[in-house]
Amino acid sequence: MDHTFDTIIEPFRIKSVEPIRMTTVAEREAFLKEAHYNLFLIKAENILIDLLTDSGTGAMSAAQWGKMMEGDESYAGCRSYYDMYDSVHDLTKFKHIFPTHQGRAAERILFGLVGSEGKIIPNNTHFDTTRANIEFTKTEALDLVIEEGKDPASLHPFKGNMDLEKLEQLMESQHKNIPLCMLTVTNNSGGGQPVSMENIRETHKICKKYDIPLFLDACRFAENAYFIKLREPGYENTSVKKIVQEMFSYVDGATMSSKKDALVNIGGFLAFNDDELAVNVQNMGILTEGYPTYGGLAGRDLAAMAQGLKEVVEEDYLEYRIKSTQYFGEALDKAGIPVMKPIGGHAVYIDAKAMLPHIPVSQLPAQALACELYRVGGIRGVEIGSLMFGKRDPETGEEIPGTMELLRLAIPRRVYTQSHIDYCIEVLDLVNQNKENIKGLKITKQPPFLRHFSAELAPA
Ligand code: F0G
Repeated sequence: MDHTFDTIIEPFRIKSVEPIRMTTVAEREAFLKEAHYNLFLIKAENILIDLLTDSGTGAMSAAQWGKMMEGDESYAGCRSYYDMYDSVHDLTKFKHIFPTHQGRAAERILFGLVGSEGKIIPNNTHFDTTRANIEFTKTEALDLVIEEGKDPASLHPFKGNMDLEKLEQLMESQHKNIPLCMLTVTNNSGGGQPVSMENIRETHKICKKYDIPLFLDACRFAENAYFIKLREPGYENTSVKKIVQEMFSYVDGATMSSKKDALVNIGGFLAFNDDELAVNVQNMGILTEGYPTYGGLAGRDLAAMAQGLKEVVEEDYLEYRIKSTQYFGEALDKAGIPVMKPIGGHAVYIDAKAMLPHIPVSQLPAQALACELYRVGGIRGVEIGSLMFGKRDPETGEEIPGTMELLRLAIPRRVYTQSHIDYCIEVLDLVNQNKENIKGLKITKQPPFLRHFSAELAPA
């Protein structure tokens, strides 16, 4: 028997490096003030470890860089498109595959075609851009995740699951107003939590009963599949690729941000089987994305995506990916920091409401924690709480808070090593020891939607 070692090693060696630079606390305090306490407004060169997002921030493999050189830049019918088509088709079996410049472009095209006033699109939890694109068409974006999914301390293995009872009730009374149903794998806004195969299958059955198409928001499909392999009885010995294929076999289409589990820096796609929808998507896509065989991307981007989709289902990669996120989360847990459990796939989520009970929700505890983490250690995370999902009532001017107050520390794919993560653990431990000194924030300026990207804040 081969011995199993506890140390997680990155299943790659490093061929190309990019320097990162430490700044002083005094410098970072000035940057924070200048950025109005909004970390999106800080220059990336002034950040040491950037855990803002796992989207488009991954490192490509030598094989992907090699494929980029071979990219076919023909305007129509380029070879790279057909390579990308083959990779997507191999995993999903969808007939129509339209590349887009990123995930939200696929969303905008899809919801622009199926959404309108009076309609409802249910999902386990809509991500911010998905919600914004649906609401932009005056359609209601409804979150129906199971109750355990809203409790940061619940240890349910599939906290991304759809609440099937609520979905059935909704379908019974409203199916005429539901153009499609979505499932986000993994459930990003709910803590990067997976959806079980059983739940995908049952959601499919309910949708089928009412003849409603089911779409996956598939950004992190491979991470979701790996969780199924680890946690769902009956899948221990099934390959991740087979699990992925089964997941897609229950749905009618998918929106994809390739910046996540296609291991590229830019790109996405919209894929499905419906022939009539395909004609409309092609026409709408041409307006903003370009000719359907390049969809807003260079041929080399498509070539990198074709290769990335093969690498992402490799189990050595996924084992390292999921284990290293787990390692980070468990260390914070041991240090007494309240983290969302079980630890998600692409990120660790800190429950700022529990960690900073002295800061009321109206003073944005997760954003206050994000700023403190940057101030102390040069680390950038992102608030997923009332700054991102809260709203100001246009009539009363009153703040309606979000469901949870989380600080997400998202891990770029194949970028940071274990010592970077150990440094983050040390910084967070120090921040936690001095947490009583962290002060709340207030919003001083905000746009009408997706306010977290550009809002300005100040100490409360
Ligand atoms: N759906 C989910 C579940 C996402 O996480 C994202 C992006 C999108 C759709 C949109 O894709 O960025 O390519 O347009 N999430 C990033 C994040 C931005 O930081 O979680 P996109």
